[in-house]
Amino acid sequence: MIVARTRIGLAEALPRLRAGGRSVGLVPTMGYLHEGHLSLVEYAAARVDAVAVSIFVNPLQFGPAEDLAEYPRDEARDLTLLEDRGVAVAFVPSVEEMYPLGGPRVTIAPGSMAERLCGAFRPGHFRGVLTVVAKLFGLFRPDVAVFGRKDFQQAVLIRRMARDLDMGVQILMAPTVREGDGLAMSSRNAYLSPEERTQAVGLFKALSAALERFASGERSAAALREAALGVLAHYPLLRPQYLEIVDPDTLEPADPVAAGSVLAAALFCGRTRLIDNMEFGQT
Ligand code: PAJ
Repeated sequence: MIVARTRIGLAEALPRLRAGGRSVGLVPTMGYLHEGHLSLVEYAAARVDAVAVSIFVNPLQFGPAEDLAEYPRDEARDLTLLEDRGVAVAFVPSVEEMYPLGGPRVTIAPGSMAERLCGAFRPGHFRGVLTVVAKLFGLFRPDVAVFGRKDFQQAVLIRRMARDLDMGVQILMAPTVREGDGLAMSSRNAYLSPEERTQAVGLFKALSAALERFASGERSAAALREAALGVLAHYPLLRPQYLEIVDPDTLEPADPVAAGSVLAAALFCGRTRLIDNMEFGQT
């Protein structure tokens, strides 16, 4: 595995990656890798000839009161995991390398789809995400890039950016990987105390309850939301931020709810923010 720490180093590695017309898949991450991230590597590996992974904790997508400084990191472990999974290139730039002029003056405006769900509570977040992802697309010129359904709004926005701005990269969405009890894997789960970790599963249970109500015929968005909120009420450490049912392409509210509509939620478990989502009609 080639480990590139600079844009020049990456530019030198890429022709070797592409030798003989091999297709390249990119998996962007912020590191502290878990099975969710590694499943994206496998998803890419099944579809392209060579997989590249970036590890970069992107300051541009963190708000001033968010966890940039304490975001968990373990580069040595991450690189071992990637090498074990057959990754061809790992790109691990410093902040100065990615933003040599102290941050871009020109950024990507995510538009109205970023004003709802997480975007309503994290101003500037998706501008930061789309800007760094657009830079990574420019640096790697991948054929394919893989993102997790776990961050549904992010994946939908990136797919829309690639289409609307003709970036020439195919965006794929891979399924959410969960712990044994159903909690979606996340680097931020490392922040949870044992008691919080026990209650965090309430998010999965709440979303599952709404999907069950849908399966038994309920189509009203209000009733399905109530089913989920009723479950959350049993978990005193969970403080919901939003819980919404949306169209999977436009992220507009969906009512009546149809197969393919997505129930997305964010909540605080102690001081840790957790997100998750599920698609109706999948169980
Ligand atoms: P990060 O949170 O490290 O996630 C990297 C990728 O892993 C994202 O596509 C995310 O959706 C996916 N992922 C995380 N947990 C997952 C799980 N349990 N199952 C499946 N996929 C999962 O998302 C980011 O980094 C950043 O915003 C980034 C896109 C890298 C831009 O900085």
